[in-house]
Amino acid sequence: MRIVLGVTGGIAAYKAAELARLLLQQGHTVQVVMTRSAREFIQPLTFAALTGRKVITELFDHSSPEATLSSSVEHIGVAQEHDLLVIAPASANTLAKLAHGLADDFLSTMYLAFRGPVVIAPAMNNVMWEHAATQANVSALRALGHILVEPADGYLACGTYGPGRLAEPAVIADAVERVTKSGSDLAGQTFLITAGPTQEPLDPVRYLSNRSSGKMGYALAEAALERGAKVILVSGPVAIRPPRGAEVISIRTAAEMLDAVMGNLERASVVIKCAAVADFKPAVESAQKIKKSQARLSLELEPTVDILATVGKNKGNRLLVGFAAETQNLREEAHRKLTVKNCDMVVANLVGGSGTGFEAENNAVVLAMQSGEFVELPKAPKIEIARQIIDVTAKIIDRRMRS
Ligand code: CTP
Repeated sequence: MRIVLGVTGGIAAYKAAELARLLLQQGHTVQVVMTRSAREFIQPLTFAALTGRKVITELFDHSSPEATLSSSVEHIGVAQEHDLLVIAPASANTLAKLAHGLADDFLSTMYLAFRGPVVIAPAMNNVMWEHAATQANVSALRALGHILVEPADGYLACGTYGPGRLAEPAVIADAVERVTKSGSDLAGQTFLITAGPTQEPLDPVRYLSNRSSGKMGYALAEAALERGAKVILVSGPVAIRPPRGAEVISIRTAAEMLDAVMGNLERASVVIKCAAVADFKPAVESAQKIKKSQARLSLELEPTVDILATVGKNKGNRLLVGFAAETQNLREEAHRKLTVKNCDMVVANLVGGSGTGFEAENNAVVLAMQSGEFVELPKAPKIEIARQIIDVTAKIIDRRMRS
């Protein structure tokens, strides 16, 4: 593939040299474009020597009148002649420019004229990363279908610890590899993915629910879309935006989720049950607000239908992936649920700790396979974990198709 590597200003700009080397090793050609601030941190010569190409640094070349004329449309030519745009590191300023369509230098102008896939690896101070404006820009870029390689937690150049450190060059190169190799290897597959919590009403103003944020399920939807799958996302109430291209069915209760899943099962070739479904619901939903006049209140709960097990009984030749949220005996419980619910794979995570699982940005999971094997996916941003789960799922589909 012909790749444009955009390097923007930040201490992590030096890591882009390693990324350029990895992309070249993967067999791609690499054209580096540097912003003015990037050149404060690393010399264009480093990239020119690595890639064997002149690095583009300015929108206009003023070395001669002819050069000025031809450079005035060079951004269009570069956009048309390349297959993939990777921006690493992407500064907060660059994210804002891309999200809003500002075009005031070569990289941002070329980006607007570029039609292929875009991989963006941000890096910045943790407070800047967590700022609502940056997060809104990140969401807008995701909504455009771009692939965000999230920054990792770590010690930052400014001396603080937190999210904002550029993902390792190998991780960014892997994301590029996935786009180049398998851009659409899941085309033709329909993934039915459930996400988020359910809410079981007690009365008109109260409900029973859990701490699920929906982030893991939404990340799975995004990862499946990246590889060309069609995605039906059955989602409980969450505060995040769904990835662009997913067909979203919003539900509230476990019973509504059951209906949505079973009603769409026919269309699905893969079912991933990531949602944290309530196991119990109030036996009676009070029509009026429950008053606090009583000294004590006991609630009678009744079980909900296990949706995963129901799909397991009716799955035909669909691939079924369940989740298991555990506070102990992770592997044993994952394997038990795999067998009892007739799954092809169970993604198990430890919940109740800090930094992973419910509500967290990161996750660490163990995949329980039908063969009895376990695959550990160490702590990483949820989108990275999701891409690896989709990768394993794609391999199972591939193996089945071959046999
Ligand atoms: N699940 C479901 N319907 C339910 C409850 C759970 O489909 N009513 C699914 C979840 O989406 C998940 C899997 O079952 O994929 C495991 O959920 P989990 O809460 O870990 O386990 P449970 O089966 O509820 O068992 P336990 O509470 O004993 O751990």
